[in-house]
Amino acid sequence: MRVRAAPHGPLAGTVRVPGDKSISHRAVLFAALAAGRSTVRGLLEAEDVMATVAAVRGLGAEVTREGEGCWTVHGCGTGGLAAPADVLDCGNAGTLARLLLGVLAGHPFPAVLTGDASLRRRPMARVVRPLGAMGARIEAREGTRLPLTVRGRLRPLPLSWRSPVASAQVKSAILLAGLHAPGVTVVEEPSPSRDHSERMLRAMGAEVRAETLPDGRHRVAVRGDVELAPLSVTVPGDPSSAAFPVAAAAAVPGSRVVVEGVLANPLRTGFFTTLREMGAAVHWMRPREQGGEPVADLLVEGGRLRGVEVPARRAPAMIDEYPVLAVVAACAEGTTVMRGLAELRVKESDRLSAIVEGLVACGVEARAEGDDLVVMGRGGRPPGGGVVEARLDHRIAMAFLVLGGLAERPVEVRGAEAVATSFPGFAPLMNALGAAIGEAEP
Ligand code: S3P
Repeated sequence: MRVRAAPHGPLAGTVRVPGDKSISHRAVLFAALAAGRSTVRGLLEAEDVMATVAAVRGLGAEVTREGEGCWTVHGCGTGGLAAPADVLDCGNAGTLARLLLGVLAGHPFPAVLTGDASLRRRPMARVVRPLGAMGARIEAREGTRLPLTVRGRLRPLPLSWRSPVASAQVKSAILLAGLHAPGVTVVEEPSPSRDHSERMLRAMGAEVRAETLPDGRHRVAVRGDVELAPLSVTVPGDPSSAAFPVAAAAAVPGSRVVVEGVLANPLRTGFFTTLREMGAAVHWMRPREQGGEPVADLLVEGGRLRGVEVPARRAPAMIDEYPVLAVVAACAEGTTVMRGLAELRVKESDRLSAIVEGLVACGVEARAEGDDLVVMGRGGRPPGGGVVEARLDHRIAMAFLVLGGLAERPVEVRGAEAVATSFPGFAPLMNALGAAIGEAEP
């Protein structure tokens, strides 16, 4: 599908974005492990999360859609999932693939996991190795990529694991396997990654401890042999989705947009901090709590932005927002340097190269320098006029549709159906604020 975004003026309005993708995956998956009936409201009804719904159904959990965004899950209890009759298709969802491997490491039956062309290219060794050390047998036809077969055990061995990357997917997979292990399972990461699993597992009765070590590393421990209590949760709005309208508004002087009910977990808000440093007026209003997570309304007013240096240590708190930050950087005055982005190479696409290629196609000067991304802004609308391939990557598709609105000439995105992975209502929401996104003419 080819979608075209034409230049727009100031954006205005109040909107809500769909539920957080990370929390939605976890709510469905964890509820399937609880004994009894969980209720999830505000669930993200997008392709990624529907793959999670299908996977837990394939493993014996009963999942029902009660109304818009409202779902109930009858879980099977810890270790109680049943052998699937068919292959479990994780679609485009890395979070599902990795967390499901953690869950299956605690179940004594074989299951086959696969995914789309994007997911089959992504590294799984980061979870295959620790889960293997816990006793799961995971075999792939080729190396450690999907499709692969996992055969767990009823009682995996407790593990103490040092992850070389700050990855919530790795951390969560190990914690999930640890739920079934006798004793305490520990994961250390170089810096804290998003902590939704820890918060949700605690709310379900698990004993999860987190601490920062004297050398700055982060350690999380879970005590196994636990029966999870059912969940009742309302999923907050996804800050990674809010980033698109917020970015588009921030870069056009005269814009004023409010996004209500956005997850404000400090491990997810690095993009908004960076926008402020670039000179944008971004405010968190009416802070409150929802489903064990901080939530607030985001107000953004457009203005003139300047280039900044984004430190590598901020990357885990805004890892999914670099494509749209690079687009904002193209509109800012001066150079923006984003450091320490090696992980971007193993997302839904190689985002480092996709960003550079897309920006260059739209007349923007940009390059990767090692693991850093450098974007030269010219303090106003970039030329635009390019055709950008989404590469099965929803965030690349949406970032360049934002660029089309901010540029001098329209931008066309090919493979724009990828948007449905996380944000099916993206174009109508943007258009309601004043954007001009529509199907490209044949
Ligand atoms: C996610 C963690 C991040 C993020 C992904 C969602 C999660 O990946 O990029 O979109 O829900 O745990 P990593 O854990 O690989 O950094």
